[in-house]
Amino acid sequence: MAADLILAIDQGTSSTKCLLVGSDGDVVDSATAPLAESCPRPGWVEQDPEGVWRSVAEAVAALMARHDPKRVAAVGLANQRESLLLWEKATGEAISPLLSWQDQRTADLAHRIGTARVRERVRTLSGLPLDPMFSALKARWLLDAYDPDRTRSKAGELALGTVDSWLLAKLGGRHVVEIGNASRTQLLDTANGVWSEELADIFGVPMAALPEVLPSTGPFPAVTGLAPLLDGTPLLAVLGDSHAALFGHGVRAPGAVKATYGTGSSVMGLIGPATEEFDRGTCLTVAWQIEGAPPSLAAEGNIRSSGSTFRWLADVFGLSVDALIEEALAAAPSGVSLVPAFNGLGAPYWDDGATALIAGFKLGTPRAAILRAGVESMPHQVADVVASVERTMGARVESLHADGGPSTNDGLMQLQADLAGCEVVRPKITALSGYGAARLAGVAAGMFPLLGGNGVVERTFTPALAADAREARRDEWHAAVARATSPAA
Ligand code: G3P
Repeated sequence: MAADLILAIDQGTSSTKCLLVGSDGDVVDSATAPLAESCPRPGWVEQDPEGVWRSVAEAVAALMARHDPKRVAAVGLANQRESLLLWEKATGEAISPLLSWQDQRTADLAHRIGTARVRERVRTLSGLPLDPMFSALKARWLLDAYDPDRTRSKAGELALGTVDSWLLAKLGGRHVVEIGNASRTQLLDTANGVWSEELADIFGVPMAALPEVLPSTGPFPAVTGLAPLLDGTPLLAVLGDSHAALFGHGVRAPGAVKATYGTGSSVMGLIGPATEEFDRGTCLTVAWQIEGAPPSLAAEGNIRSSGSTFRWLADVFGLSVDALIEEALAAAPSGVSLVPAFNGLGAPYWDDGATALIAGFKLGTPRAAILRAGVESMPHQVADVVASVERTMGARVESLHADGGPSTNDGLMQLQADLAGCEVVRPKITALSGYGAARLAGVAAGMFPLLGGNGVVERTFTPALAADAREARRDEWHAAVARATSPAA
């Protein structure tokens, strides 16, 4: 039987999802295995490294129980980013839990080491703001806990690694990391694609504890120990999940951006070579690197409260989220704005001290106007990040590729097109991270062309709002954001 399928493994925070993609680009089948997380103290979020591996093995086994493993031509991996652990190089055994990207235990450390000079150097070299979400502060915490004098890490006995790094060690016994994942550690000189000795020094991380950086198409170790998958099945692509979604949407050049709508939202778009004028509303990240080609760079902005605003409003008014969106979109815009700075504001404002507020209401403002303002806060924030990407590119974003739960709502996607002033494209395939990893593995296997993406656009939403009406709505929103931000921001 011909090897005509690509297997994608999407190792995410709450589950591992596997997809089989056929040579026509369609998803043939999928399976999911859950993954637990624990919160041993307030702000701490951990996962069991062996549990991560087990969830991969379970999802692969569940899917491949229904298919002939000989049909798998190649494997692609997408993974949750920034989470970090420490293991023994000699035995491959984890000696720490996986500190999740959500873990906040290093918030104090960030304040302690974060002088203005350090923050500026970290931002300039890594392209990322100093923040507990990224791996560098976790690396410092792990080494302080397990190798306080750095003797073992300097001697190369201990391995630090992100989730891709851990899974690659499990599969092939090597200490390596994919370049896009490395760019989210905050230890990479992102513009040059190499570990930064200066950043390693700032965070107290010996270079000997860091993995070898590889392009997104490897060469990676072949798959072993993932029965019923055949040992030796080639692993041809590894991508961070957000990067994989961008690739899965078919974005290959600057000009298009993807937005993943969820509890928060992640907006990412390719940019040209890193320039001095990089707009700091977004972070600089390596999207991917194909072996033999230079890395493709991306700007990414994470919005903290997006779907969570809908959930909060739905709870306050005793509605389901669907009913909330329906009532909100049936109302006409009325000059009310809701800025969901529940946790400060993320991209593009980066203001931890911002205050959530509702502005512009009067006696007689109906409930639907408040609901509409809450619903509009999602597309307004996405449009703000798109504008930041445009400032970095020095050009207009032509299309926004949408995925994630809320993207299935037609009214919301039309509103997004109206407020961002660009077309919004929704694909038929929803599991974009796994799909993107499969596409890149398929490119490396010679099954798919590099250019062209999923090719299965389900629907395109075109802006229907006149430019002056759009500007007026955007101005109202920005006036409310200006009130919400803290005086120092
Ligand atoms: O940056 C964190 C992100 O990669 C986690 O993604 O899908 O596992 O929540 P997810």
